[in-house]
Amino acid sequence: MRLNWWPLVVGIVLARSETAQQAFYPEHSATNKNTSIPSVKKDSTYGPIYAGLATFGFVPTLDCFASDEPFDIGFVGLPIDTATTYRPGARFGPNGIRQGSRRLRILGGYNVPLAVNPFADWAKVVDCGDVGATPYDTALALKQIEEGHRKTMNRNAATPATEVASTGRKAHPRIISLGGDHSVTLPILRSIAEVHGPVSVIHFDSHLDTWQPKESKGQDSETAALNHGTYFYYASKEGLIRNGTSIHAGIRTTLYDLDDYKNDADCGFTLLEAWEIDEMGPKGIIKAIRSTVGDTPAYLSIDIDVIDPSAAPATGTPESGGWSTRELRTIIRGLKGLNLVGADLVEVAPAYDTAAEITQIAAADVLYEVLSLMVKKGPLAL
Ligand SMILES: *[C@@H]1O[C@H](CO)[C@@H](O)[C@H](O)[C@H]1NC(C)=O
Ligand SMILES: *[C@@H]1O[C@H](CO)[C@@H](O)[C@H](O)[C@H]1NC(C)=O
Repeated sequence: MRLNWWPLVVGIVLARSETAQQAFYPEHSATNKNTSIPSVKKDSTYGPIYAGLATFGFVPTLDCFASDEPFDIGFVGLPIDTATTYRPGARFGPNGIRQGSRRLRILGGYNVPLAVNPFADWAKVVDCGDVGATPYDTALALKQIEEGHRKTMNRNAATPATEVASTGRKAHPRIISLGGDHSVTLPILRSIAEVHGPVSVIHFDSHLDTWQPKESKGQDSETAALNHGTYFYYASKEGLIRNGTSIHAGIRTTLYDLDDYKNDADCGFTLLEAWEIDEMGPKGIIKAIRSTVGDTPAYLSIDIDVIDPSAAPATGTPESGGWSTRELRTIIRGLKGLNLVGADLVEVAPAYDTAAEITQIAAADVLYEVLSLMVKKGPLAL
């Protein structure tokens, strides 16, 4: 007797992949008939995606520095790189990321694993353009960035959460910053602390960035001491970071010695080294981050150098042995539901990218996951 076995095999394979999808993403299913998920209308409001002014994902522009018009989520470019140690060039990062984001909405922008379309749901998403920061004086540039961030964030969100509305408190928009070198995170945290108080920091990077200024050579002035490797040290001293609920992930830098880790803990962080993904898998990394941060207000800071240089070469201080773009995107999607009050993606230096723009595309796609998380979460009630 000839057994007709192949439909059984196909059936098992389909059933298995369905199980894997649903274990990780319960709302995601190839047979999801959720008709309340909004989609971008198939119209011609934007033309060929290789043409036209590149805002992030072709969202509308809003001059947030000149206007107080409410919005919910805003992309803001912070084009400075005068606080870098090795390769400069991140001043071109904001427009590099926008260039990498051109294809995000080519088929509407629906995020399959997260089952949300961040471009077509409740949120008014805009691109604010760039803060006009000076290339001649880092200390002044950081002040300008702080003022720029405050100006964009200190307004009403277009869609306040009902919980906030009912208490009469102001609901603020969430800002996603496009770096720029990593020093920009200090002025951002200063601005955020005025609204939310100290926040937990979820920091993806190959480096700690809590280095004590005195440890490095050539830091004999105040301006030189505050750079893209020391800004978290200052943020901790200023009380901007919640102690014990902040975490680095993807770390693989060499150290001066193990006192650097002690100093890092004193600054309020715990950490996951890059190799730990081999032991824990992305699921374990997600679990560790979630249990550290809990339901505290959290700020997400992503240095593109957390990704391996084979997939993201265009950055200032590359370190081999990093995560794949897929792993990082999976881990970020795993942060669904956390109280993200803002985010940045920094250290993209397009001059070192491949002609295929792989770093800029990776950066844009990672931020697409971040935007999806924020929209999925709904209006922030903090
Ligand atoms: C359907 O989608 C809407 C909008 O994204 C969401 O609020 C709702 O929870 C979804 N329902 C199910 C059953 O997945
Ligand atoms: C954070 O807590 C640890 C452990 O309790 C402590 O050693 C450290 O000084 C604290 N750091 C800050 C910045 O409060």
